[in-house]
Amino acid sequence: MGKYEDTRDGSPETPGKAPNSSSKLALVAVVLVLLILVGARTVHDGCDHQRSNQRHSEGASIRGFRDPHPKTWNPCLAAPADSPPPYPWCDRSLSVDRRARELVKELELEEKAGLFGNDAKGVPRLDLTFYEWWSEALHGVANSPGVNFVDPTPVATSFPQVLTTASALNRTLVRKIASAISTEARAFSNQGRASLTFWTPNINIFRDPRWGRGQETPGEDPLVNGQYAVDFVQSFQRDEADPHHLKNSACCKHFAAYSIENWKGHDRMEFNAVISQRDLQETYLPAFKSCVTEGGVSSLMCSYNAVNGMPSCVNDELMHDLARTEWGFEGYITGDCAAVGNVFERFHFQNHSEAEVVLDVLSANVDIDCGGFLPKHIIEAVQSGVVPEVLVDRALVNLFKVQIRLGMFDSEETQPYRKIGIEAIDTPEHRELALEAARQGMVLLKNADNILPFSKPLGDKNVALIGPHATSEKVMQGNYFGHAPFVISIEKGLRVYASKLLVEQGCPLHNASSHSSFLGSPDGEAGLKAAVKAAKVADQTILALGLDQSQETETHDRESIALPGLQQELLNRVAQAAVDAGKPPIVVIILAGGAIDLSSALGNENVGAILWAGYPGQAGGTAIAETLFGDNNPSGRLTQTFYPESFTSTVPMTDMNMHPNSDTGFPGRTYRFYTGPVVLPFGHGLSYSDFRYDIGLPFWDRDSITYPVTINNTGFWAGADVLMAYLRPPKDAVAAGVHGDLNLKLHKYHRTEILQPGETEVVYISVSPMDHLKVFSNSSRDPTFLHAEYGYWTLELQDSQSSGFQYFQHASSREFMAAASAQIVL
Ligand SMILES: *[C@@H]1O[C@H](CO)[C@@H](O)[C@H](O)[C@H]1NC(C)=O
Ligand SMILES: *[C@@H]1O[C@H](CO)[C@@H](O)[C@H](O)[C@H]1NC(C)=O
Repeated sequence: MGKYEDTRDGSPETPGKAPNSSSKLALVAVVLVLLILVGARTVHDGCDHQRSNQRHSEGASIRGFRDPHPKTWNPCLAAPADSPPPYPWCDRSLSVDRRARELVKELELEEKAGLFGNDAKGVPRLDLTFYEWWSEALHGVANSPGVNFVDPTPVATSFPQVLTTASALNRTLVRKIASAISTEARAFSNQGRASLTFWTPNINIFRDPRWGRGQETPGEDPLVNGQYAVDFVQSFQRDEADPHHLKNSACCKHFAAYSIENWKGHDRMEFNAVISQRDLQETYLPAFKSCVTEGGVSSLMCSYNAVNGMPSCVNDELMHDLARTEWGFEGYITGDCAAVGNVFERFHFQNHSEAEVVLDVLSANVDIDCGGFLPKHIIEAVQSGVVPEVLVDRALVNLFKVQIRLGMFDSEETQPYRKIGIEAIDTPEHRELALEAARQGMVLLKNADNILPFSKPLGDKNVALIGPHATSEKVMQGNYFGHAPFVISIEKGLRVYASKLLVEQGCPLHNASSHSSFLGSPDGEAGLKAAVKAAKVADQTILALGLDQSQETETHDRESIALPGLQQELLNRVAQAAVDAGKPPIVVIILAGGAIDLSSALGNENVGAILWAGYPGQAGGTAIAETLFGDNNPSGRLTQTFYPESFTSTVPMTDMNMHPNSDTGFPGRTYRFYTGPVVLPFGHGLSYSDFRYDIGLPFWDRDSITYPVTINNTGFWAGADVLMAYLRPPKDAVAAGVHGDLNLKLHKYHRTEILQPGETEVVYISVSPMDHLKVFSNSSRDPTFLHAEYGYWTLELQDSQSSGFQYFQHASSREFMAAASAQIVL
């Protein structure tokens, strides 16, 4: 994540039109039963940034930046389409593979070595110039060595951080965003301001709320992450304008099981993730499989950590056996930055020499090093006979093939993507899309007595906006961001609605000295007193709290999941003061990535409503204000479990287990397995309207059963609803340990279009026992053995109202045995 200071100002979006919305989401939990006849079948299923310790700042990115103007990359580009190709690798009539081989054939060993770093040197003899492989675009074109924010590309649209967008659970939205980012990226590239290889998305499972980079991921569920990967990668890499080339190259990272930065001295650079085969198959690998097999991603990144003693970047089981052979991955694999060198320097892998590590890395199928280890040691490794040159060539072929697919060796005039101009950046459509994503990603956590939305006349009264995030701007972007054209703070967003806004910081986001001494200090007290004073006089108080990149970021995990600094104290005092002064309960806005223990605020009757906004991007303040004042009906759902603070003392972050263990008292992780108390469950999210679900009679075909579900907006506000449908395994099987304690698993999510009051939408939920009613065996000798289960599986629709503070306590309103189930024969 870069650190850049200036965020340009721009015109805020005007608020959208008011939908008429009110009250809440009421869903019916329905339990359906399915009798399964078992079949069994064996399934073997299954980038970034380090910069070791130095962070890459914008300054670094400009200093390190060498203009990769497309026309100077190589002579193929500039050659007219109808003239003979200047080199065989420019010849479009040959296969991609052949062209890459022709090029590699021409190279001397020393020239080859220079191509193995992210800042690939080029080969002047063959008119190949420098190429920077490392560009970033997590939620917008972002600061990175390959990207340069200078004229004529000073800004890029900053969409919400991934976790916020993911909360919308809208696959179309993800596709539109990926496509927009990719278009802007091409516009940068066409100006020589970016390369074409972007190390995004991050699809690791958000397995622990303390993880500093959980914000970059879609969340804790393998299905959600996998579908995000597919949608993002497909839309980022291709569009209909040119079926012959990749628009840009995406990279699914970090392969595999990366989810710790630095927790109590456990450093990601040498962390050994000890993971059962079962957890790998069920949790850590499925999103990568989807990314490769369905998404068709053209790059993977091996992670810093080791998996079961084997550093990821020498892990041929993962990269060769699984990705390339079983999943059919075609593309290049990069090491995370410094990860390749760390196999030698930090892991001291098998005490191997540098040359041996080169062999380990290349034979495990890594193709390029974000760092200098391979460029430095390849020549010696080959000359000493340790590394066969064919391995070097194999990697180079993989690299060039992706560049050829990107059109880097084709005549420019044959390529529509080369014509994308700077007018495609920061367009009105992209601004609207960034705003729309923020609207859809808002998650309403609490709304006691329907205090929200505010009525419009409140705008003419005194509104106090208090808290460390009241005026925050760049915080809205989370990490891995670029130069936004503008960032709308909460204050700016609210000013559109509230003419008399009193703004107080109340307290800093966190404080370096101990809380108690700061609290007693003149500064601490003065801030709190000013806040309390404002809350007493205002007709409505809004608190803006949460986290920022000082609390959760790359290289930094949290130790506590409580509100940092004096924020809880501020909340308690302000809420009390407002109500004591006869004012309504306060409303709290949370800007944060990872979960925070909000149990105190949830239980505090002086807190009327809580809105989670994640890191909502450039238009965040507008989306928040629209939501508070009813111009946006919130519809997002949490894609992570909110645990109590006690989780942090009972669960070591280094424990990768997903399943609970009654012997050790380990409670398990994520809604699928966790057995402990929950503050807010996965999938939680309220609406101003009420939605009722009716499950119709199922119909069957040979190998699936399909339930029609009617979603009815029975409330008074227009709004979208997100249906969350889960499968719960048979109770008796769970009791017998067959399922090893799977609570339930998300089977399908579906976002409706905006439904007017009284309007309905029908969703079809198909369950195919052969594919869905299976679990990885706990007991079988082969832990990758997937077996189907006999028994009563239940299909459950999440009732966000009744599950508000419980962990999926469903009352079964209806239960029937699927009499026709005998038709399902596996
Ligand atoms: C998803 O997002 C897109 C883009 O903003 C929007 O057009 C669409 O209505 C949303 N809902 C659904 C169900 O696709
Ligand atoms: C590496 O070398 C050290 C010291 O020479 C030795 O203690 C250690 O056992 C060796 N490790 C391996 C994996 O061979």
